[in-house]
Amino acid sequence: MSKTLIAPSMLASDFGNLQRDTEMVNKSEADWFHIDIMDGVFVPNISYGMPVLQAITKHATKTIDVHLMIIDPDRYIKDFAKLGADILTVHYEACTHLHRTLQAIKAEGMKAGVALNPHTSVELLKDVINDIDLVLIMSVNPGFGGQSFIENTYRKVKRIKEIIVENNAETIIEVDGGVTDKNAAELSKAGADVLVAGSFVFKSEDQLGTIKNLKQVANS
Ligand code: DX5
Ligand code: ZN
Repeated sequence: MSKTLIAPSMLASDFGNLQRDTEMVNKSEADWFHIDIMDGVFVPNISYGMPVLQAITKHATKTIDVHLMIIDPDRYIKDFAKLGADILTVHYEACTHLHRTLQAIKAEGMKAGVALNPHTSVELLKDVINDIDLVLIMSVNPGFGGQSFIENTYRKVKRIKEIIVENNAETIIEVDGGVTDKNAAELSKAGADVLVAGSFVFKSEDQLGTIKNLKQVANS
C-alpha cells in the first residue's frame, strides 16, 4: 500500500503570517498545500482569492492542491493554471457539464479533481471515473474550517475505492473536513490517499509535530 499524504489547509493558517506558515509547511512532513477558494454563493462563506494564492505560491515548495467551492468554475480554470495550481478540484454540484470541465482543467496541464458534498452519492461518478485524477470526499459541509467529522465518510470512501478498482481507474481519494489523529488511521484503511487537515494542524501548539504525528497515525 502506498503512503497516505497530508495536505494542510491554509484556510486555518494565520493570514498575518502567511509566509511564516507557508514555510512551516515547506519544512514539515506534509506533502501538499490545500487551498480553499470560496465565493459566498456556492458556500455561505468567502475565503480568499487569487492574490492570496499568489502570496502562498511565491514561497511554497510543494504541490498546490486547489479546492474550488465556487459556482461556474470554468470561468477561472486558466487563471488557476497561471497561478501555479497543480491540482484543480471542482464541485460535482457546481458543474452542469462535468466531463467538459474536467477536460478543460487537463488541457491547462493540471490534474482534475471532483469534490462531493456529504449528501452527494459517490455512485454519480461511475460514468466519469476514468476521467478523474482525484475524488475529494467532503467529510463536513463545505464553507468553514473547524467543523466535526461526518461518520458516513468511511462508507463513501470504501465505496468510491471499489468503483475506482472496478473501472481500473487511477483516481486517488482525498478526504477533507474534521480530520484529526482520531480518524486518520481508519480513513487510510478505508482507502483515503490524501488527508486534508486545517484546524488540527494550525490550531496546535507544535504544528510540525502535529503534522508528523498525523502522518505517522495515517500510515500506521
Ligand atoms: C471546508 C474546507 C476544508 C477546511 C478543512 O469547506 O474545504 O478544506 O479548510 O478544515 P478543518 O480541517 O478545520 O475541518
Ligand atoms: Zn478544502
